[in-house]
Amino acid sequence: MRAPDPVREPAPELFTWEFATDPYPAYAWLREHAPVHRTRLPSGVEAWLVTRYADARQALADQRLSKNPAHHDEPAHAKGKTGIPGERKAELMTHLLNIDPPDHTRLRRLVSKAFTPRRVAEFAPRVQELTDQLIDQFADRGTADLIHEFAFPLPIYAICDMLGVPREDQDDFRDWAGMMIRHGGGPRGGVARSVKKMRGYLAELIHRKRAGLRQDGDDDLISGLIRASDHGEHLTENEAAAMAFILLFAGFETTVNLIGNGIYALLRNPVQRERLQKSLAVGETDLLATGVEELLRYDGPVEIATWRFATEELTIGGQHIEPGDPVLVVLAAADRDPERFAEPDTLDLARRDNQHLGYGHGIHYCLGAPLARLEGQTAIATLLARLPDLQLDADPDDLRWRGGLIMRGLRTLPVRFTSQP
Ligand code: HEM
Repeated sequence: MRAPDPVREPAPELFTWEFATDPYPAYAWLREHAPVHRTRLPSGVEAWLVTRYADARQALADQRLSKNPAHHDEPAHAKGKTGIPGERKAELMTHLLNIDPPDHTRLRRLVSKAFTPRRVAEFAPRVQELTDQLIDQFADRGTADLIHEFAFPLPIYAICDMLGVPREDQDDFRDWAGMMIRHGGGPRGGVARSVKKMRGYLAELIHRKRAGLRQDGDDDLISGLIRASDHGEHLTENEAAAMAFILLFAGFETTVNLIGNGIYALLRNPVQRERLQKSLAVGETDLLATGVEELLRYDGPVEIATWRFATEELTIGGQHIEPGDPVLVVLAAADRDPERFAEPDTLDLARRDNQHLGYGHGIHYCLGAPLARLEGQTAIATLLARLPDLQLDADPDDLRWRGGLIMRGLRTLPVRFTSQP
């Protein structure tokens, strides 16, 4: 892409409606002219945006940037309005994304024992079954909203199954999660009530499972967490509830958007989509694997990594940062950096040199990446195989994107296709 001309193209306005629809031109400008840029967020808080790949990767691994919100030098006028997780829900907030070593190291080791690649691999038939059941529900209709009918329910049922939430309770989770996603995930009103209900439910489930746990049985994630803590590794019941909650929370809207943004990108790039469909039709999976990684790079679910705060003076990309300053690493900007990726604005499903930051980097690297890959690949491959003439059923300019700070995703994705009786 042509480099922006700073004289003819002034600094872009961030966080507007146009920006939510297509933030990439603004990110190109920032990478070029203000790669570490101090800005006032819609909440009123000031933060540094890091947009170049090299700086972003370094910042994500820099332990002088803490995840603990206690390090935030919060200005009085913004108190309680910043969207930064505070002390209010302390029990649920002591989770992986809000803590530093040594607590982070201990909790991550514990959950890694329960959330293994083997467990995820064993889960593949269930993800396939869920995917097919969801498609069955609209396949004969010829139209669907792929966000509400497909991308949204799949990850919530998948993670509930994995955690060991009984099937008869999973629709409650679907409703609570729906409330959170519809209202942008902020801790207000109905969202706060949903979080509270989820928390109460999880605490009770952990309690029940602990009481009835057999030594080797119950191969679900919550039982695995309890077993780890009962073997003297110090996971309190609160920490177990916070862990279950973050697995749900981190693994839900992200995966909705991987499927939503991914299918949208394929529908808008018919040549790439056709290549993928042809390769899947002859049973090849290489292009699917590189393709889902490319979809994460090209228009990933996590636009900006979660909050980080400077614990001491430091320099990022030549810019001096004061202790207490919030630093936001813009993954979506870094993953389109022409210094790192050839033709970064082109979707190339076969891209091999693709060390994107869509799952983060360093000690907080996405714990659920194997599950997300499994869900993303299964959802996209099955949808294209079962509804081969899938088309967008809306003008792209009419589609609405959610305007949150961290996540990037569509509100709806209307499609049409030849109905399958
Ligand atoms: C962390 C992305 C799916 C669980 C992260 C981070 C990113 C990310 C960028 C790091 C955030 C930071 O450093 O500030 C994604 C994407 C997903 C996805 C793009 C889907 C496509 C999942 C799933 C789960 C999950 C399915 C679990 C079921 C977690 C957890 C962390 C995390 C627990 C915190 C790890 C830590 O702090 O040590 N994810 N995620 N994620 N993710 Fe994911």
